[in-house]
Amino acid sequence: MTSYLLLLAPSANRVYAEQAPALAAAELRLLCPEVTAVAPVQVAGVDYLALEAPEQPALGTMSSRFALFRREGDLLAPVPVHVPDVLDDDLVSIPKYPGKTNEQLTRLLLNVTLAAVDRAPGPRRVLDPMCGRGTTLTTALTLGHDATGVEQDEKALDATAAFLKTYLRRKRLKHRADVTPVRRDGRKVGRRLDVEVTPAERTQTLSILSGDGRRSAELLGKRKFDAVVTDAPYGVVHGGHTGEGRERSPEALLREALPVWAGQLVGGGALGIAFNTLTLPRATLAAITRDAGLDVRDDGPWLDLAHRVDASIHRDVLVATRPT
Ligand SMILES: C[S@@+](CC[C@H](N)C(=O)[O-])C[C@H]1O[C@@H](n2cnc3c(N)ncnc32)[C@H](O)[C@@H]1O
Repeated sequence: MTSYLLLLAPSANRVYAEQAPALAAAELRLLCPEVTAVAPVQVAGVDYLALEAPEQPALGTMSSRFALFRREGDLLAPVPVHVPDVLDDDLVSIPKYPGKTNEQLTRLLLNVTLAAVDRAPGPRRVLDPMCGRGTTLTTALTLGHDATGVEQDEKALDATAAFLKTYLRRKRLKHRADVTPVRRDGRKVGRRLDVEVTPAERTQTLSILSGDGRRSAELLGKRKFDAVVTDAPYGVVHGGHTGEGRERSPEALLREALPVWAGQLVGGGALGIAFNTLTLPRATLAAITRDAGLDVRDDGPWLDLAHRVDASIHRDVLVATRPT
């Protein structure tokens, strides 16, 4: 066993306040099960996460990783970490707008959901059925996966299309990006953005369809996904629409949506939802998820992902899998 110290990105402390080390510890245990003795420590007044591992842990995707050191007595030896990202992180960080999901939380949510997928390794097909301006989708692309989103707000689709076209051109990446109408029975029912980009060996895709995430199976047809990953409306500023205006709790929305999303997962696929426990208790969401036929991960580090955001948002992450 080798002892390591992991320095967390300073930005993680701004996102999660004092909870950054606890959240990082949970993410680390889920991503690298071979790692043991994970514990927050202070060395010379600086916070680290101490850990032990049989060989160098693969921390490159971890959302709050900053620098890794091997511990040799009182000395710390820097250890290079291989980061497998195929696109620069400014793809995710440049867009700024109200209601954007925090970038680190998005990466954590995607990481822990993909860690639960029980399929042969390889690029994943990720669906965010309430994708906003696509933080989940661009994060998935950065990690080498394909991404599909549904969003009810057409302005979000336009903003994402404009940003991606400019970004990919400016970065001189080989790509194609088109917005086209979606027609059914000769009638226009919405629009879609389709992007193809080849940042590494593989051509990756990102699509967004305008429409109701509760009807994503109708919008996307028979396509199945390895992961459904979404940051649900918090019932605070960005309330879920149910046709009757804003509702305080997204419970009704998720009760309708979850059976649809569960049906879009392949066997062994995983669902990950970030939600506000002040408007939707974890036990309620877990029950709705089980009713949709999924197995909720409800033990060990899976229960250590809750954190306070502000006075009106206490966020948690729930992950569940579709039986194979
Ligand atoms: C918390 S925000 C997610 C933001 C997104 N992750 C981002 O960073 O841009 C929730 C999103 O769900 C969308 N939404 C709410 N109800 C929806 C529905 N029934 N169908 C599709 N989108 C919906 C909202 O418009 C909002 O963009």
